[in-house]
This record gives sequence, C-alpha cells and structure tokens, in this order.
Amino acid sequence: MKPMTTLLCAAQLCLAGMASAAPLSITLPPETAAFKPSALPGYALAQQKCSTCHSADYISFQPPGLTLAQWTGEAGKMQHVYGAPISDQEVKIIGAYLAVTYGSAQASDAEVQAASNPSAGQPPAAPAATVDAMALLQGNGCLSCHAIDHKVVGPAYHDVAAKYGSDPQALATLTSSIQHGSSGKWGEIPMPPFAQLSPQDLQTLATFILHQ
Ligand code: HEC
Ligand code: HEC
Repeated sequence: MKPMTTLLCAAQLCLAGMASAAPLSITLPPETAAFKPSALPGYALAQQKCSTCHSADYISFQPPGLTLAQWTGEAGKMQHVYGAPISDQEVKIIGAYLAVTYGSAQASDAEVQAASNPSAGQPPAAPAATVDAMALLQGNGCLSCHAIDHKVVGPAYHDVAAKYGSDPQALATLTSSIQHGSSGKWGEIPMPPFAQLSPQDLQTLATFILHQ
C-alpha cells in the first residue's frame, strides 16, 4: 500500500495536477487531517502517538469496516516495522479507538472495553520517560545524526553517557550542548543548536542520553 499516492489521488489532485500547468497546491480537507473525536481513551493516545510521523489522513484513507483485530494489527505494524515508540498496551488501546471510530467495532463490544481499559495492575511495557525521550529524538531529527550504540554523524549516545557518566555537571553540560549546539568535543563536525526545545524537553533528552 502506498498511502502518499492514495492521499493525493483521493483529493482528486492527481488528475487536476496533470491536466493543468498551474503550480499544484495541496489543501487537505480539514475533516480528515485530524483524528475523529471519541470518548475512548485511545483518542488522546492516537493524537499523541500517531501523528509524530504522518497525519491522521493515513488513517482516514484506510478502507472502512476494518475490524478490531485489523486496526490493532495496523497500530502494531507501526510499532514493529517502523519503530513507533508505542507500548503493546497502547497498541491495544489505540486499536480499539480506531476500530470503533473508523472501523466496524462498537464502543460497547466486550473486546473493545477490555482493550481500552487494561487491568490496572499491569506494568506498562516501557517507562513513560523512555517513550517520551524516543518521541523527542524522533520528532527533532536527532536520530538522523545519532544512534544509541554506534557513531553516525555525531557520537553514539552510549559513548556520550560513558564520557560524562561520573561528571556531576553532566546534565547541565548536555542540556546546554543540545540547546546551543556543540563543536570540537567529538570531532570536526559541529552539532547545530536546538534552541526551540523547552527546558523540560532538554532535561528529558539529556537524562535519557546519560542512561544509555
Ligand atoms: C515512527 C513513525 C510512525 C509512527 C509513530 C506511526 N506511523 Fe503509521 N506509518 C509510518 C510509515 C513509515 C508508514 C508508511 C508510509 C508509506 O508507505 O508511505 C505508515 C503508514 C501508516 C498507515 C497506512 C497503511 C500502511 O500500513 O502503510 C496507517 C493506517 C498508519 N500508518 C497508522 C498509524 C497509526 C494508527 C499510528 C499510531 C499507532 C501510526 N501510524 C504511527 C510511520 C509511523
Ligand atoms: C546534523 C547532525 C546532528 C543532529 C541533527 C543532532 N546532533 Fe547531536 N551531535 C552532532 C555532532 C556532530 C556532535 C559532536 C559535536 C562536537 O564535537 O562537539 C553532537 C554531539 C551531541 C551531544 C554531546 C554533546 C557534548 O557536550 O559532548 C549530545 C548530548 C547530542 N549531540 C544530542 C543531540 C540531540 C538530543 C539531538 C536532537 C535534539 C541532536 N544531538 C541532534 C550532530 C547532530
């Protein structure tokens, strides 16, 4: 399946674009660009977890009538194939929301209820801080220059943690390097500044990196 093609053609822009020489401007219908509201807990989760890599159009343009199992499978595919930072439990909660809102399931179905309200005793698959940090790393393009365990353009986070692990100023040094950029510490190539990150996001990133 090629969602990008579907996306353009569904808006009748493929033909329009080919027939005229005018520059093609794409305006998506607003009602498909956001997730459909729902009282199910998966609504908020999908907004948070499923829009970091692509818009809700990818969901809107799936065939109607998909079952709970199919939608849960789709959310699971994002996790396994594309590395979306979502826990197994979140896959189920999001799958239930999507199946009711976009598919054939009913909010009153026993399976939907069970998937949406996992028993409170179960520990989440990954600590929330790790999930947040991964989303930040992905959302800010850090992973195009860094990996956890090997050098890419920038140093492996594992090596950063090893270098600063015993330094009491480590957290302050790293938040500052991320915010203002860094040069000359690891090699010839400088790292650009990320001045738009909030103090809290900087803290989450630096803490995560120091634990690798
Ligand atoms: C880590 C990035 C990432 C996240 C997060 C993500 N997706 Fe995707 N998704 C992709 C990629 C990559 C594709 C394939 C794009 C392509 O083929 O052009 C895709 C495609 C899709 C498609 C189109 C059908 C298909 O299987 O290719 C659907 C539906 C979809 N995603 C749903 C979701 C849902 C639901 C979530 C939240 C649980 C989610 N995505 C989160 C990366 C992501
Ligand atoms: C364009 C490539 C690039 C991107 C994008 C990038 N980095 Fe870097 N990063 C580097 C390079 C190169 C260095 C080494 C700089 C040096 O030698 O001082 C570095 C160094 C670092 C260091 C070590 C700094 C120190 O004081 O020793 C940390 C931590 C870091 N990056 C985190 C991040 C985070 C978090 C992001 C995303 C918000 C990010 N990087 C995005 C290239 C990049």
